[in-house]
Amino acid sequence: MGDPTRTFYDELAESYHLIFQDWTRSIQWHASVLGPLIEREMRTGGLRILDCACGIGTQTLGLAQRGHALVGVDVSEAAIARARREAHQRNLSIQFEVSDMRDLSSLPEAGFDLVLAADNALPHLLNEQDLARAVQQIAGKLRPGGLFLASIRDEELTVILQQAGFVEVRWLMPADSGFYQPLVLARYRMAEQTTS
Ligand SMILES: C[S@@+](CC[C@H](N)C(=O)[O-])C[C@H]1O[C@@H](n2cnc3c(N)ncnc32)[C@H](O)[C@@H]1O
Repeated sequence: MGDPTRTFYDELAESYHLIFQDWTRSIQWHASVLGPLIEREMRTGGLRILDCACGIGTQTLGLAQRGHALVGVDVSEAAIARARREAHQRNLSIQFEVSDMRDLSSLPEAGFDLVLAADNALPHLLNEQDLARAVQQIAGKLRPGGLFLASIRDEELTVILQQAGFVEVRWLMPADSGFYQPLVLARYRMAEQTTS
């Protein structure tokens, strides 16, 4: 039997944009909220970002349009095929790969400034072991001081992130962030402090 999550999103890929009233506008809106937040956190633009549950590219496309270098992965082959098409139509150069965030070893790239898992992708990982595996894989893709950003409602994630070596775990509620879901920010091991 195949992975039901993958099958679900494979079947949804061609109509996924219909979840939004106007997907093109949503792409812009997501980037206009998440982009400045990320850039403020990292104190720079032009970031290397891995979107580890990119779907058809709702966040990936808009963040690439802001000048960031994006790699998008998703467990759904059909979603990735559509994301590639959407990027091509917008003249965006984005690397898309089919990959499961619980095992990102097929992706040679590492040392990202930011890993993103937006719009409730993490709750698809149904047990603590899978969630911990995913968080460890994400940690392995970040440079020291790099940032993990997810939109999700799951306070247990705080503890799992800390166990995987993340620090400064912060939750931003919609009233503070302007985004429509709770956001979690977690920094992957601070760059070593220099003592003089
Ligand atoms: C609600 S969608 C959000 C997609 C995209 N971020 C967006 O906002 O359009 C959740 C995505 O998580 C992906 N996903 C679920 N489990 C995954 C896993 N283990 N590894 C990678 N992607 C996964 C699904 O295939 C789906 O595309």
